[in-house]
Amino acid sequence: MSWFTQTLSGSVGKKLLMALTGLFLILFLVVHLAGNLQLLFGTDGEAFNMYAHNMANNPFIKVVSYGNFFFILVHVIDGIILTMKNKAARKIRYHVATKDSKSSWASKNMALLGIITLIFIIAHLKGFWYEFKNGEIADAVYSGMTIPDGYAVVDFAFSNPIIVGFYVICMAFLGFHLSHGFASAFQSLGLNHKKYTPFISKLGLLYSILIPLGFAIIPILMYLNISF
Ligand code: HEM
Repeated sequence: MSWFTQTLSGSVGKKLLMALTGLFLILFLVVHLAGNLQLLFGTDGEAFNMYAHNMANNPFIKVVSYGNFFFILVHVIDGIILTMKNKAARKIRYHVATKDSKSSWASKNMALLGIITLIFIIAHLKGFWYEFKNGEIADAVYSGMTIPDGYAVVDFAFSNPIIVGFYVICMAFLGFHLSHGFASAFQSLGLNHKKYTPFISKLGLLYSILIPLGFAIIPILMYLNISF
């Protein structure tokens, strides 16, 4: 076994992999939210459709997209293995008081929050990503240019209050998952510093509130037909 695979298959390596894939996904969410906010601007979804069209035809974005799916898969598999290992270790020392009792609700329920987020992602990919790639999307024409009307797919989905409610509730769970995951990723990378760690914790808290809130606002405003 090479040094690389040996490191990644150990407990420390697994945490490292969890942190690195998690940080990539944290960055992805910022870019994804910025793109999706365009659903709320302009008329008839022109801004969003132009954005989605440009993204779909950009070779760099295509590579990032494959990386995205790969990192989600690694993050999920690694998370399952780490949770099982932690459970087995806890069984051995169950009678010993640990500092676990002091940790946050989110940190104690990361696996459950992760599973809920995964269920959301699967439903989300089926509803949007798969539909964008394989569904029958109508054409939109802007200044003589014909491009797929992806906005109509999202708009149709968010006219259903059940889907809107599902998105809003899932964003709350995602927020809790991120509230522990953000700072925890830096800790797993060994980036502990008495000056910077409190800043990273605050930034993590801000991120875990603002990003899910930004995502939750989109279906609510689209349902209410509010655009800017
Ligand atoms: C209001 C909230 C959201 C909207 C409107 C939205 C919209 C979309 C749309 C339209 C696509 C298909 C894009 C395309 O293939 O061209 C997509 C893909 C995707 N979304 Fe979302 N999204 C939202 C929230 C989220 C959240 C919270 C996550 C993760 C937790 C997420 C993860 C993904 C992933 C992984 C893809 C596939 C991206 C790729 O091709 O690499 N989305 N989303």
